[in-house]
Amino acid sequence: MNFTKIINLKTLAVGAIVGVMAFGFTSCKNAPNSPGYEYMPDMYRSPALKYYNTHVLNGDTLQSAMKPVAGTIARGCMPGIPAGMDYEKAGMYLKNPIVFNDAVLKDGEAIYGKFCVHCHGDAGKGDGKVGLKLPGAPPAYDGTLKNLPEGKMFYSITNGKGLMGSHASQLSVEERWKVIYYVQKLQGHTPGQPIVADSAKTETAQVVKPAGKKEEKKQNKI
Ligand code: HEC
Repeated sequence: MNFTKIINLKTLAVGAIVGVMAFGFTSCKNAPNSPGYEYMPDMYRSPALKYYNTHVLNGDTLQSAMKPVAGTIARGCMPGIPAGMDYEKAGMYLKNPIVFNDAVLKDGEAIYGKFCVHCHGDAGKGDGKVGLKLPGAPPAYDGTLKNLPEGKMFYSITNGKGLMGSHASQLSVEERWKVIYYVQKLQGHTPGQPIVADSAKTETAQVVKPAGKKEEKKQNKI
């Protein structure tokens, strides 16, 4: 038993030495820049594929990277306004997604103090120091803008309106909705409560009825 064990160890040692020498001799070459023999070249050199391109590999047509599905949105880049939605539709369909509470209102007030107050003024009357210097001062929130729906506010803050530039690059979608709660307070509403939309104005407008013919007839009979 011991004898065979010794032989096995010897053959193993000799085999290892021969292997290392063979590897050493074959891997070294005279040219200093030559990589020597490459035993598995695929491991060294992966095929360089051009991005967003198709390639034929072993008869298979492959894509180096799949294109994102149409309408894909990058993480953290959720747009506030769905594609194709205009000002009027925003007024009808866009609703504040932030759950209202006092902390949210405080955040909104802080944002207002940094980004809006210089034009719109402390109480939102359009009398901020910058606002007064504009060729046309911003309208008062509790004046003509009293019933402006939140969706329209969001649209205007996002895209800008008239002399007011877009705030999309300064304020995240959440920040824009938070400041809207504060603007609603300045409009004189209770933020967080349903607010009557400006379209209600036309609904409540007096409808002048043409003089009813039926009544006339009745009167004639009498
Ligand atoms: C450079 C001055 C300026 C700044 C800063 C500014 N606004 Fe305005 N804003 C205006 C003017 C001017 C208008 C009137 C635009 C018009 O109707 O032509 C306006 C209009 C609005 C309206 C009414 C939009 C509509 O659809 O009629 C809202 C709401 C509003 N601003 C909110 C904000 C909020 C919130 C901020 C801060 C995040 C802000 N604004 C910052 C000048 C400014």
